[in-house]
Amino acid sequence: MTAAIGAREIERFRAALAARLGLHFDEGKFGFLAEVLGRRVEAAGQGSEAYLSRLETRRMPDEVAALAREVTIPETYFFRNLDQYRAFAEIVLPDRLAAPTVGRRLRILSLGCASGEEAYSLAILVRDMIANPACDVSIVGVDVNSAMIEKANRGRFSAWALRETPEEDRRRWFRADGPDFILDDAVRTSVRFEQRNLIDDDPQLWQSSTYDVVFFRNVVMYFTPDQGRRVVDRIARALCPGGYLFLGHAETLRGFSNDFHLRHTHGTFYYQRKERAESLSSASFPSDVRHPPIASIAAVPADADSWVDAIRRASERVAALTDSHRPDPSGLGSNVVTATPAWELGLVLELLRKERFAEALAIVNAFPPASGRDPDVLLLRAVLLTHGGQLARAEDACARLLDVDDLSAGAHYLLALCREGAGDRAAASHHDQVAAYLDPGFAMPRLHLGLLARGVGEHSVAREQLGQALVLLQREDASRVLLFGGGFGREALIALCRTELLRCGGTA
Ligand SMILES: C[S@@+](CC[C@H](N)C(=O)[O-])C[C@H]1O[C@@H](n2cnc3c(N)ncnc32)[C@H](O)[C@@H]1O
Repeated sequence: MTAAIGAREIERFRAALAARLGLHFDEGKFGFLAEVLGRRVEAAGQGSEAYLSRLETRRMPDEVAALAREVTIPETYFFRNLDQYRAFAEIVLPDRLAAPTVGRRLRILSLGCASGEEAYSLAILVRDMIANPACDVSIVGVDVNSAMIEKANRGRFSAWALRETPEEDRRRWFRADGPDFILDDAVRTSVRFEQRNLIDDDPQLWQSSTYDVVFFRNVVMYFTPDQGRRVVDRIARALCPGGYLFLGHAETLRGFSNDFHLRHTHGTFYYQRKERAESLSSASFPSDVRHPPIASIAAVPADADSWVDAIRRASERVAALTDSHRPDPSGLGSNVVTATPAWELGLVLELLRKERFAEALAIVNAFPPASGRDPDVLLLRAVLLTHGGQLARAEDACARLLDVDDLSAGAHYLLALCREGAGDRAAASHHDQVAAYLDPGFAMPRLHLGLLARGVGEHSVAREQLGQALVLLQREDASRVLLFGGGFGREALIALCRTELLRCGGTA
């Protein structure tokens, strides 16, 4: 390694990689970054200071491309997460083909396509689904790593890359050649691959309302939150209204975008762009500004601030709304500061703790009408109605919350409770699964899924869900336990979890 590389240089290098490629590296990767930086400094024949200043201030596309080959993770295989491909073939494709604007033209993008397996899997499915030869189909794979684009174009794959490929597709579309498999030419030539950087302003790629389906799987998980939001904003604008977005199975748009509806079929999740262009966040938030927290009460914010802070912010919002509706007693005009009831949400929570739901609800109902679209107030109302046993009204409140924030894990969890109350176990389980997907740290939907499964004797599912709930409950945010715990404290919920685990043959 070149001598002058210390902690400061590595920090600067990390920041440059985030700015130029969108990628985030945590401190555990500093040794790796030091090695890469050392190699690039040596290849450039300059000192680290000169190299880093150029990387920070100039475009240097060749150097960024060289860095991409060094630091990206191109792991992929055919038909990865088969459920998503089934949803694509059985729901998404027919829906897009029926859209009036599509008819004879279908545009599909695989962003961060690595060596092409994802784009080719889509091409195989599309060939089977589209009988009409007049339909103009375009499938484009995009990746910043030029070595992967070359590999994709070769169309030669290892047996390992075909490990999830259905046997029939393997026979139809691949020919064995030594240890490898050669992709059929008809499929290979139906996909175009392009080396592009998703972080660049690239008018050719990001044409507005152009694509029907975007696969953007297992890429945003490597991005910094800000760069991830920026790319998701661009995807939202580049998709046709009603177009679809697939993320990796463990990735969610929660906290990233409010421009999509969540879809849940075939045991998997994906997103559909909202129909009306004016609903896109770009209309209300410039893309370089962080989105405000979406239904902050519904989730412990991913970035450091606590749920208690979320409550405080919600209190302030409600207070501001209340102030703006309150007559100015002094008659001196709007500059005068009036007393604010910022404590009111705190009082509501105190009443919730004491299970005095009706009184708490009376306070929330007295909030000014403008608070009726505040996601935190809507959630609080839904919680109080659910705990107070007014399940039909609670469902209505959840529906209104989802109208404002489609990705509210809290609303889905409450809907699960309401549906169970209505005897609709399937819908209850669906909403729990959505809540657990949207917020993997949320213990309550796991616990509820476990209880539902045990109730119908599905003991292995119950053990899995209760086991996860037990782990999550130990670190669940205290305020969220209060909000969703249904009158149980953390210790009581943990004890319940343990008892239920034992009852279905697990170890607690
Ligand atoms: C883990 S692979 C995902 C492959 C495929 N989408 C899948 O899910 O199987 C991530 C890919 O994203 C690409 N990538 C990372 N940053 C990128 C950027 N700024 N622009 C374009 N592609 C990028 C990497 O080169 C890598 O090939």
